[in-house]
Amino acid sequence: MKYHDEIMHRRTFAIISHPDAGKTTLTEKFLLFGGAIQVAGAVKSNKIKKSATSDFMEIERQRGISVATSVMSFEYKGIQINLLDTPGHKDFSEDTFRTLTAVDSVILVVDSVNGVEEQTRRLMEVTRMRDTPVIVFINKMDRDGKNRFDLLEEIEKELSIALHPMTWPINSGKDFKGVYNLYDQNIRLFTANTKAEEEDTLNITDINDPVLDQKIGAADAAVLREDVELVDGVNGALNVADYLAAKVSPVFFGSAINNFGVKEMLDTFIRIAPPPKSRETTKRTVDAEEDKLSGFIFKIHANLDPKHRDRIAFFRVCSGKFERNKYYHHVRLDKELRFSNPYSFMARDKSIIQDAYAGDVVGLFDTGNFKIGDTLTEGEDFYFTGIPSFSPELFKEVVNKDPMKTKQLEKGLLQLTDEGVAQLFTQFGGTKKIVGCVGELQFEVIQYRLLHEYGASVEFRALPFYKACWLTSRDAKKLDEFSKFKLANTGEDKDGNLVYLAQSEWFLNTEITNNPDIEFHFSSEIH
Ligand code: G4P
Repeated sequence: MKYHDEIMHRRTFAIISHPDAGKTTLTEKFLLFGGAIQVAGAVKSNKIKKSATSDFMEIERQRGISVATSVMSFEYKGIQINLLDTPGHKDFSEDTFRTLTAVDSVILVVDSVNGVEEQTRRLMEVTRMRDTPVIVFINKMDRDGKNRFDLLEEIEKELSIALHPMTWPINSGKDFKGVYNLYDQNIRLFTANTKAEEEDTLNITDINDPVLDQKIGAADAAVLREDVELVDGVNGALNVADYLAAKVSPVFFGSAINNFGVKEMLDTFIRIAPPPKSRETTKRTVDAEEDKLSGFIFKIHANLDPKHRDRIAFFRVCSGKFERNKYYHHVRLDKELRFSNPYSFMARDKSIIQDAYAGDVVGLFDTGNFKIGDTLTEGEDFYFTGIPSFSPELFKEVVNKDPMKTKQLEKGLLQLTDEGVAQLFTQFGGTKKIVGCVGELQFEVIQYRLLHEYGASVEFRALPFYKACWLTSRDAKKLDEFSKFKLANTGEDKDGNLVYLAQSEWFLNTEITNNPDIEFHFSSEIH
């Protein structure tokens, strides 16, 4: 319990959204509130513009930005906030999924015009796997969005979550007048690009106060009263325990670009969002308040300078205290390592740190010791569970264009897949190396990086696979038989786990039905 106070004042979270919903804009407002930046426009979008998917300079630029903004730490009202960035482009969604294993809660941004979009759905599936508490921010209320009730219903239905409005909007689009705070029972009147905080707040103790009619007009006041009665009647006060158990999500309405409704959410966030929690490992539950250090690598970033192969491994501290220059146990390699230049991230600057606590993310220089999921402890052997690898959606065979560089190619493929850029499978019945990715863009990144960082020239040949499933069975013989019969469709992943590569959904379902003794998994827990 030595570090109780340190842990209790930390909040580690990520903002997730479909591209363009307003994640970057909201991040920037948070940093402004936290005093980590002084001017708007300081946070660059990490988006790759759709038109530039083949532009390598754009990819490099994106990598540069995403390292700089990978973790943004700032203080707000005495709380240390660690905001973990997630890539905006869907081709990098696997990176996002893994980052979500390192946070304790998330804020989901939904565009009030577009409602629930594809990427929102996928991201929410991941948060549900881990029962991560979610706060929802409905953005762009200054635009003519969907009807507020319809929107809430759509989010509840599509994302299978129960919502609990904390603020309630008065109109939208050009008629947007502000939000009623159901918790504080006051009204914040909308002003575009508002900087002031207090003077825009209309303090009323009773929603029937005639001042309301004067301020927003009798018709809108009447609608608001009706809405509030309905919403309050259904919901009552937020049950924080339900939020923490990921059973209910508080909802805020606002406009990130106008810095409207953001402070309400941030204030609620620091009041209710969970501090670092206990986490499951392969051996036991690790309590965040334990004295001994433990944590895991959830992201690895290659050095931007191709002449230096060293990388940055992002280490999430789960318990104890991380100290500079102290030896820690690398479980997979059974090796003691120490770090002389660990750094923390303050907005866009990196700085060397002396120590860090549960909830913090430390950047470790790595010369090839780490892969995603690796655990550091003070001697105990375990891995944190729930760091999955999802089935890729595109599969391509690696064609070596320069046999003289075979060794470099193998090394490059191993290192890039350690970083989590893609997954590598080796097909049985041949030695075909198959790279699986979530998006086309990743193949371009791999091809480019293999050439520029390892001197290996490759081409990719598309393969007609639809999904990779990890296979397990109580009966080892059944697995053996299955792989013998399906040589062209089975192989192993980099860690030697048996994988079935299905050509289509129909084939997959047929095999599932025909092989009741075999379990087909759609994600592999790395440990
Ligand atoms: P993302 O990180 O989720 O992808 O979204 P981002 O913040 O970059 O916002 C996407 C677009 O939506 C941006 O416009 C941004 O200015 C706009 N936006 C964000 N919040 C609001 C809001 O509350 N109201 C309105 N009306 N727009 C908002 P863009 O034109 O795509 O950006 P840019 O090309 O000007 O950089």
